[in-house]
Amino acid sequence: MRKVALTAAAVAAVAALALSGCSSRTGDTTSTDGASAGFAADSTIGVALPSKTSENWVLAGGLFEDGLKEAGYTGDVQYAAASGTVADQQGQIQSMVTKGAKVIIIGAADGSQLSTQVEAAHDAGAVVIAYDRLILNTDAVDYYVAYDNFKVGELQGQALLDGMKAKKATGPYTIELFSGSSDDANSAVFFNGAMSVLQPAIDAGTVVVGSGQTDIKQTATAGWKAENAQSRMDSLITSTYSSTTLDGVLSPNDTLARAIITSVKAAGKPIPVVTGQDSEVESVKSIMAGEQYSTINKDTRALVKQAIDMVGQLQKGDKATTNDDKSYNNGSKVVPAFLLTPVIVTKDNAAEAYANDPTLEPLTK
Ligand code: BGC
Repeated sequence: MRKVALTAAAVAAVAALALSGCSSRTGDTTSTDGASAGFAADSTIGVALPSKTSENWVLAGGLFEDGLKEAGYTGDVQYAAASGTVADQQGQIQSMVTKGAKVIIIGAADGSQLSTQVEAAHDAGAVVIAYDRLILNTDAVDYYVAYDNFKVGELQGQALLDGMKAKKATGPYTIELFSGSSDDANSAVFFNGAMSVLQPAIDAGTVVVGSGQTDIKQTATAGWKAENAQSRMDSLITSTYSSTTLDGVLSPNDTLARAIITSVKAAGKPIPVVTGQDSEVESVKSIMAGEQYSTINKDTRALVKQAIDMVGQLQKGDKATTNDDKSYNNGSKVVPAFLLTPVIVTKDNAAEAYANDPTLEPLTK
């Protein structure tokens, strides 16, 4: 349960289950959950991705196209439009169902707005895999494949503390907190992971959130948009940092990290320790140049490959392999997950971390 982004609706769903005497179906292995009767090796496989809010999503589309084709399937890969995202994705999933897709892999644009579509997919006999972002409040999600998002948050929180300590041996340290878009179920998981590391230091007074803004509603960045993070940082500098030094900023990803750094630089302030995630090209360059402090390596190639391997198991009529059947409760059920391990990257270990990445490795020289 600890990893769940429980929205009000999810809390209500859990309460309703408790009232009706149903359990949350942990460990349920009946044939309706995740099993597939097998399907033709050239079947249609749908992939519905959110809009391209970060580089990982841009990479995923091409990797799915190529990987599904290579494995012999008919891939149908779609991105939600940059605006009108939710309705667009709902329509795309519906059309994949109509085309008879046997598996639908979904990177949710809004995790709490897809229950009608995934239930329709299920009713049509398709297996639904939530990719990177969990889909909330429905039983019709068979699998979840993602990097361990709570661990991502823990690594970010620890990197922030380590980076500040390396610059200034003793605290107290003054920080600000940023989180992702509230329609992405990952945002709360990242934030909770980071706060599990930062809260004890905040309670002990060795770390102080200068603005006092510690609630996820205050720290959220709508749409994961750089301009929203940049304008919030501009306001924080004006309200809180005319004379106080800002030592660190918890940023949930690279796009927002660079926006925060842009804001600080424009204000003529020294760059604080800023965390990130995704190993975006511009952020790896920034880390090597000594600006952004850290990122997270969540190799998109490995995640897409894992998702396609799951399709292969389902095609043969097997269940897909999972390695975590307890952590990701979506408000209706615990979704069996295959979690990959994220890696923290700073200037110190960048060469090693990207040794197998032909795009990023040359940047570490
Ligand atoms: C992904 C991150 C990404 C963010 C914004 C999250 O769901 O896990 O890797 O930075 O979305 O696109």
